[in-house]
Amino acid sequence: MSEDGSLLRVFELFSGIGGLHLAIKDAAQRVGIPFRLVKAFDVNTIANQVYLHNFGMQPQQGLIEPLSASEFDGRADVWLMSPPCQPYTRGGKQLDAEDTRAAGLLHLCDIIKELAHPPRLLFLENVRCFEKSQSHKRLMDALHSQHYAIEQFIVTPSQLGIPNTRVRYYCIAIRSRDLTPEASPGVESMAFEMPAVDGREIPADMGRVGDYVERKGRHLADLLIDRNVFTKNETFLFDVACEDTRATTTFTKGYGRNEGRAGPILLCDRQGRPLPSYPPAQQTIQVNGPSVDSPEDCRIDGTLVSMETYRHVIDTHVLDTRRFRCVCVSCDDEAAECVRYRYFSPREMLRVHGFPEKFAFPACVTTRQQYGLIGNSISIPVVAHLLQYALHKCMLLMDGEGRAGS
Ligand SMILES: C[S@@+](CC[C@H](N)C(=O)[O-])C[C@H]1O[C@@H](n2cnc3c(N)ncnc32)[C@H](O)[C@@H]1O
Repeated sequence: MSEDGSLLRVFELFSGIGGLHLAIKDAAQRVGIPFRLVKAFDVNTIANQVYLHNFGMQPQQGLIEPLSASEFDGRADVWLMSPPCQPYTRGGKQLDAEDTRAAGLLHLCDIIKELAHPPRLLFLENVRCFEKSQSHKRLMDALHSQHYAIEQFIVTPSQLGIPNTRVRYYCIAIRSRDLTPEASPGVESMAFEMPAVDGREIPADMGRVGDYVERKGRHLADLLIDRNVFTKNETFLFDVACEDTRATTTFTKGYGRNEGRAGPILLCDRQGRPLPSYPPAQQTIQVNGPSVDSPEDCRIDGTLVSMETYRHVIDTHVLDTRRFRCVCVSCDDEAAECVRYRYFSPREMLRVHGFPEKFAFPACVTTRQQYGLIGNSISIPVVAHLLQYALHKCMLLMDGEGRAGS
């Protein structure tokens, strides 16, 4: 909050298409604090065009690395950031701090230590495994040097009833104006459940994919997947959603490419219209059930969690096992001929990630580029939930400081 606590000045770093902007908008509104997004920063010209198109504001174009501490010091109360995840992704090379794509974040870690007026709240999103990285250690060291209190979460939209898994790491660092280590001891905690926040009920049941799909439009037929993809991958278990499906895998940056392996695909008819349920003739493969049987075995990195949490964060396949299928396409089979598979449309992906319907791409951005940008973005409902929690804490802290000073 600014000096008089009346306006939240926000920096959005690695801003992409502005998912964090939308999340803070929602959270600030719920907490009742006006905010101003002072500046966004990104090196990607296409992402910046999309940002300008939707927010009427041009992010600062370029790398973060050449920027000096003076360009940040005292200029924002909140830093939101989702730095590149490739240095930490499982299945990637995991070069961590040695990966050039980690340089922007590491530069910010150095800057944080130099600031005379650090932000009151710093929020960071990244992939799971980031918390085990050297970059994470550098971030924690920087935050400790400025006496932040740190809370960390590993959570997923399916815990909010959204039929999609996107298990991600989140860091909430809050700094008291009182700089003594006793006041802000820099305690780190790690939670695997959504914190409770006022006015946001966590639904008991999972939603359905059908709540997010488009049912008409010529463009849907353009999303049909070539049958050769399936003939070439006869034994691969695709994540095939129908309208009735209760969970899908993560949409990644390579969605729409990688032969349907970069996220879920949708069961549909020849026009690309989604089918409500799996036809009985469709071959289902029984995927393995839960990896643990007893509640005592439900541990994530040593922390005992509920079986439900374990399913959302670790055994995500159990959320809806019906969806994993080998797709057998036989052109001779009349039934198979009526059943097709397509990619989710960019609009459907945006909906799953919680973007508003009015969010749009400029005409020059291709479908493939849209997939890449949305796959790189964030789950707005998850981040809005966590930011509401964080802003509420900041306000309590400020009230305490006000009382202490009066
Ligand atoms: C994970 S994406 C962020 C997604 C964003 N939160 C959204 O909602 O779209 C990371 C972004 O950081 C940008 N980026 C990567 N390295 C950068 C650097 N060193 N300086 C500035 N931007 C960088 C990329 O262009 C990309 O848009």
